[in-house]
Amino acid sequence: HKDLLSIQQLTSQEIEHIFDLALKFAEINQRPVKKVPTLKGKSVVLFFAEPSTRTKISFDMAGKRLSADTFSLAQSGSSLQKGESLSDTALTLQAMHPDAIVLRHGASGASAYLARQLDCAVINAGDGWHAHPTQALLDGFSLFQVWESFAGKNVLLLGDIAHSRVARSDIELLTKLGAKVRVCAPRTLLPPALKSWPVEIEQDLGRACQDMDAVICLRLQLERQQAGLLPDLREYARHFGLGPAHLSHARTGARILHPGPINRGIEIAAELADAPNSLILDQVSSGVATRMALLYLYLTSTREEA
Ligand code: CP
Repeated sequence: HKDLLSIQQLTSQEIEHIFDLALKFAEINQRPVKKVPTLKGKSVVLFFAEPSTRTKISFDMAGKRLSADTFSLAQSGSSLQKGESLSDTALTLQAMHPDAIVLRHGASGASAYLARQLDCAVINAGDGWHAHPTQALLDGFSLFQVWESFAGKNVLLLGDIAHSRVARSDIELLTKLGAKVRVCAPRTLLPPALKSWPVEIEQDLGRACQDMDAVICLRLQLERQQAGLLPDLREYARHFGLGPAHLSHARTGARILHPGPINRGIEIAAELADAPNSLILDQVSSGVATRMALLYLYLTSTREEA
């Protein structure tokens, strides 16, 4: 594949190869001087048509640490605001000969749509409700650094599964690597297709945490709720906000993850977000190393050997 569009396209061996590379880049990120010349002369466009802090800055930092030139385009301030189509915008960017376009877009399938039209690599940085493969890879890498193997591990995905591209990509990655996945959410935030997914469903949060090695809390995607279906936030927090009592049912040392941004006190108690077994900031660090590995793989021919 010239593009990274979803976890579906990767084998477990390819995912493990990405983790091995990310480990090397994580070591480089600990050095006083973090810049290496690996991608000198390459250019990467960061095309973010939806807001982002973590994904955008970590791709930018990843590119710059590998000596690639990075260029940012946001919805606001671009000709998208004048009505230029996604397709024309992408063809315009491609005419400047970048080596990769990293795309975040609110429409599911936007990355695949551009990938079919463009010669350069397209990396999906989140498309609608569909997929967020680089987030799943960094979530997996954060757990890989702690566990080394996913065999026998149980992971709970908690919260707004229906609107979450992270949930879809995490489920694909974790099950591919051998972990068991359970989901917990109010009925209105479970997608209709869930029955065909390789997951257990448990609606009671205490029971859902039982025997878990990790809990991944998901952001309540307030911007994607359908009119009239927005849950009452206090009610949601009472039943589905992760607290210490719920986590006491999990396995000793269970890790807590959240892709961010966090709605503190709604999806997760603040004390758990900041607890020693929270990997939330490790996920951010893993994001830089993982995206360095991905830019390296997708911008050099070594990807063929992966
Ligand atoms: N997790 C994530 O995608 O965060 P941003 O929206 O800040 O990039």
